[in-house]
Amino acid sequence: MSISTAARAMPARTLTPTGVGFADGDYKPVEQITVSVLDYGFTRSDVTYDVVHVWDGRFFRLEHHLDRFLASMARLRMSIPHDRDAIRAILMECVRRTGLREAYVAMLCTRGRPPAGVRDLRQCANSFVAYALPFIWIASPEKQQSGLSAVIAPRPRIPAQSVDPTIKNYHWLDMERSLFDAYDAGADTVILPSMDGVVTEGPGFNVFAVRDGTVMTPDSGVLEGITRQTVIDICRRNGIAVEIRPVPVAEFRDADEIFLTSTAGGVMPLTRLDGRVYGNGAPGAMTTRIRDLYWTWHREEAETTPVAYDD
Ligand SMILES: Cc1ncc(COP(=O)(O)O)c(C=O)c1O
Repeated sequence: MSISTAARAMPARTLTPTGVGFADGDYKPVEQITVSVLDYGFTRSDVTYDVVHVWDGRFFRLEHHLDRFLASMARLRMSIPHDRDAIRAILMECVRRTGLREAYVAMLCTRGRPPAGVRDLRQCANSFVAYALPFIWIASPEKQQSGLSAVIAPRPRIPAQSVDPTIKNYHWLDMERSLFDAYDAGADTVILPSMDGVVTEGPGFNVFAVRDGTVMTPDSGVLEGITRQTVIDICRRNGIAVEIRPVPVAEFRDADEIFLTSTAGGVMPLTRLDGRVYGNGAPGAMTTRIRDLYWTWHREEAETTPVAYDD
């Protein structure tokens, strides 16, 4: 039996907890999901994607992620034969087939490739792929107890005027090279400044600082993270002062508390930056309060969409 015949024959009721993907109209074990080396998504990083998570059997803020994914595709002039409802159903089905209660769920749209001998982007057949994996943490819950360490990168983030960071993208070489600088310095991760010396974001996360009870996060030059927006919403709903504005690196370093936000890990305390220790090396009170609220919101019906499991 060929691989694709085997995949089509994959019984819907067999759970595949290592991961299930969707490509070319079929659900398959995630290891069988492939993208051609000739796809411009690979050769030109001409791709957009989104990642949503499932926690305790419920998608968190799924509609926010679909909004962002569809907006990113529209701005890259990509289109696929699946509308919003179909994409939602595909993501749901990927998770259902894994049986996972905690999952990392990705959707991607690549440019695809033009017909042989043609280089016209308008003739590319854009392709859609989705998959659900066991939950992925940027920093494990144990690591979050003590807090992460980071350095400020020696190179700026790609300017937003060149690659718009609000279109979720894989232009990550600035961040990947900076991660090696962080490893060399014995740190867990890295935060990139902008060309003009304000903080931006890091590999897979937005950044926040807390000073005198006010929470602040950069207003531009960053992905508008769904976790970032959730923290802003949490602050506003709980009477916590929040400022969305440029944050110079020097002001960021001087903060009382720093935390990172991502779908892959939530609200993650940072307790060391370039060797400076924050809060005696333990997560700060404001970070802990926001983090607790963030996970509490995962039980709110208005913020979640239950997965239709078989049992
Ligand atoms: C560059 C970048 N910034 C920020 C984030 C955080 O976004 P979200 O909270 O939507 O996961 C991500 C997530 O992958 C990212 O890649």
